Amino acid sequence: MKSPLVFCLISAIVIGCGGGSPKSPGGKKAIVVGFSQIGAESAWRTANTQSIQSEAQKRGIDLKFSDAQQKQENQIKAIRSFIAQGVDVIAFSPVVEAGWDVVLKEAKDAGIPVIVSDRRPNVPDDMYVCFIGSDFVEEGRRAAKWLAEHTGGKAVIAELTGTPNSAPANDRKKGFEEVLTQYPGMSIVYSQTGDFTRAKGKEVMEALLKSPVGKRINALFAHNDDMALGAIQAIEAAGLKPGKDIIIVSIDGIKDALVAITEGKLNCSVECNPLLGPKVFDAVQAVMDKKPLPKRIVVEDSMFDAANAAKELPNRKY
Ligand code: AHR
Repeated sequence: MKSPLVFCLISAIVIGCGGGSPKSPGGKKAIVVGFSQIGAESAWRTANTQSIQSEAQKRGIDLKFSDAQQKQENQIKAIRSFIAQGVDVIAFSPVVEAGWDVVLKEAKDAGIPVIVSDRRPNVPDDMYVCFIGSDFVEEGRRAAKWLAEHTGGKAVIAELTGTPNSAPANDRKKGFEEVLTQYPGMSIVYSQTGDFTRAKGKEVMEALLKSPVGKRINALFAHNDDMALGAIQAIEAAGLKPGKDIIIVSIDGIKDALVAITEGKLNCSVECNPLLGPKVFDAVQAVMDKKPLPKRIVVEDSMFDAANAAKELPNRKY
């Protein structure tokens, strides 16, 4: 017969002696959060993931993290698994806008609060507690205003759009086109998805520059920096000067984009801050403490061009 000590030692190897859930630094039972991430399509997304994971670790939160690899069905599966595990809070960043009603109703019926991070799902307000993220429509407006001011309101524009049916692709296009209605000399002559990736941005731009419409463009609006950086490679390979022959505006404000601005290859990047970890876990804590939260928390963003990119570069964390 085993002594209690021996039994405990064996248990410690298998499940941890003393059992139970991980403890937070204060010794209390850790808050359990299920986070469903979209994937790793861009430098922005990588920085966002790191911010979520490091903030959870800092606060002693038991984070169940799931990477959906760009697939909505994987996100739905992850959310269902969080519900089955009985997590305290679910947080997620929806890859596309539509198709979340059923799974969010399941979370609601299970009494698990949902916090939306980065991208908005197209569901009624009462399906989630709080949505934290940038104003994507405003980002599109700011990109178009910058372009109008620096081209004298005359531009033949190619657009590289983000993931089809995603909130940032829909909203950035909307904001950009809204401003264009005030400038009859500016028009989008070509629009194609680059899926928010550098490789696809390059591929689409290579094909465009070989076509008759590609020969006419003198401006590019890319829905994120990664696609703009891929397009820059294609423009250079075609013997053109990015930033001069083709004026380029994009969104995110990642370090590589700021470097490209200092090299004169990219003209402007509208910031979209990915460091949402502290805000997301402040919201989680408020939910756990039953404190009120606003339905919408808008992240304040900046904007970079040749006037301020070099100064900001040493401070960029992503
Ligand atoms: O939802 C935010 C967007 O998603 C970022 O602008 C883009 O880089 C990312 O992939």
